[in-house]
Amino acid sequence: MKKDADPMAPEIGDMSPEAFRAYGYRLIDWIADYLKNAESYPVLAQVRPGDIARQLPPQPPLQAESFDEILEDFEKLIIPGVTHWNHPAFMAYFAISAPGPGILGELLSGALNINAMLWKTCPAASELEEVVLDWLRQMLGLSGEFSGVLMDTASISSLCALAAARAAIPNYRIRTDGLAGRQDVPPLRLYVSEQAHSSIEKAAILLGIGQNHIRKIAVDDAYRLRPDMLSAAIAEDRAAGLKPFCAVATVGTTATTSVDPVAAMAPICREHQLWLHVDAAYAGSAAILPECRPILDGCEAADSLVLNPHKWMFTPFDFSVLYCRHMEILRSAFSLVPDYLQTTEGEHVRNYMDYGIQLGRRFRALKFWFVIRYFGVEGLQRRLREHIRLAQHFAKWVDQQADFERMAPVPFSTVCFRWVPKALGDSFDMDSEKGRTRLNEAIDLANEKLLDEVNKTGQAYLSSTKLQGRTVLRLTIGNIRTTEAHLRRVWALLNEHTQTLVQDVDRL
Ligand SMILES: Cc1ncc(COP(=O)(O)O)c(C=O)c1O
Repeated sequence: MKKDADPMAPEIGDMSPEAFRAYGYRLIDWIADYLKNAESYPVLAQVRPGDIARQLPPQPPLQAESFDEILEDFEKLIIPGVTHWNHPAFMAYFAISAPGPGILGELLSGALNINAMLWKTCPAASELEEVVLDWLRQMLGLSGEFSGVLMDTASISSLCALAAARAAIPNYRIRTDGLAGRQDVPPLRLYVSEQAHSSIEKAAILLGIGQNHIRKIAVDDAYRLRPDMLSAAIAEDRAAGLKPFCAVATVGTTATTSVDPVAAMAPICREHQLWLHVDAAYAGSAAILPECRPILDGCEAADSLVLNPHKWMFTPFDFSVLYCRHMEILRSAFSLVPDYLQTTEGEHVRNYMDYGIQLGRRFRALKFWFVIRYFGVEGLQRRLREHIRLAQHFAKWVDQQADFERMAPVPFSTVCFRWVPKALGDSFDMDSEKGRTRLNEAIDLANEKLLDEVNKTGQAYLSSTKLQGRTVLRLTIGNIRTTEAHLRRVWALLNEHTQTLVQDVDRL
């Protein structure tokens, strides 16, 4: 890289306002073109491990470089290594969105560069956070007993919720005595469904609960936690002298988007004095649709709930909301105020540093405020409804085609399905257990190949999961720019590749 400095860059101090303006306009133009042409990029980065790092200098530049050069390298070296989550055919994991108003909100929050640790370190950030999270609470139809705190991700929100659940256990004095080496109190037990997200288990590891003290409760044939099994597990653990303390319900599981029966779990938790945390990271957004609101039935009795507007409420990553009905308990788990952070406003304000792990906090609320105001609640509802409609469409195509099979109900915008090449059936003895196992393995392999072939085209990106040990493909719609035309193209791609692969059935 050349080392000639930007002629406009001063010896000391920042880039001049004139240079900022000029490059800023260029970047906005670049972003507008990028968003317009997002589908011209391969959705999945077409690079091998190390390809990007190899092209970058191992040492930092000693002298200033021009902004032109930096931008040039951004396009030349970085963009090829980007997997384009903005591509409308990004349908893997849970697809996300960076809509214009959200990006612009992020830009302003970057420019202001505040730290919302205390109310007084940016009153607008703290108060806007309170207001927009209360707007969202109303949109979801949650009671006014819930207050929200912004976090980066659901993993951190759930970690904080579980820390509050732990702090709420009477007589454990976790804050002062910790859990390590305690002989005076029984081990804690946490209950989740077999389909719960790994972030819950990770939180339990971090909080010293231990993986051996997580009870994974069986699910029914629609992948929902079975309340009868939850009751039985709690009773068994209590009889064994253990301390059940928290259960987690998932509204929209990661694999199939199933919804645990929160309304049936809540009385069980109440009876046994368990904290009930609801992980609604993905599907919670759908509750702003009146027709989907029943997914949150029972949540009024939950102690905490996490929802990620960065997943399916058109808010740029990252943006996760933890709602809690006992802010004083959350605060008791986290608040620790050194002398230099003492303030005089007392209980009149919310110092958000008291409600989570971080001290420093970004101005996240700004982008969400932009998004809600720009689209309006009705605009967000229309977009969510459209995604659900598209997913239903795709599910219908799968159902109507003999060599595809749908693997789970489709309550939201995610479809689990698999290819079942009919030709494979002739190759195995279906009357023997071994033959059936081998057929299933061959179908798994066929689906892995199909996924790989489709993703390699760069025209779409789907993901996979395992359900009951079988490989299942997952298609999810969550990108604000995805249309029916994109969905049709993905369905055509899948079919084109099954036709090619099936000719080679022996090698599958
Ligand atoms: C149900 C559920 N909970 C939690 C998470 C973790 O989300 P995050 O990346 O915000 O930590 C996911 C991720 O997809 C999820 O599907």
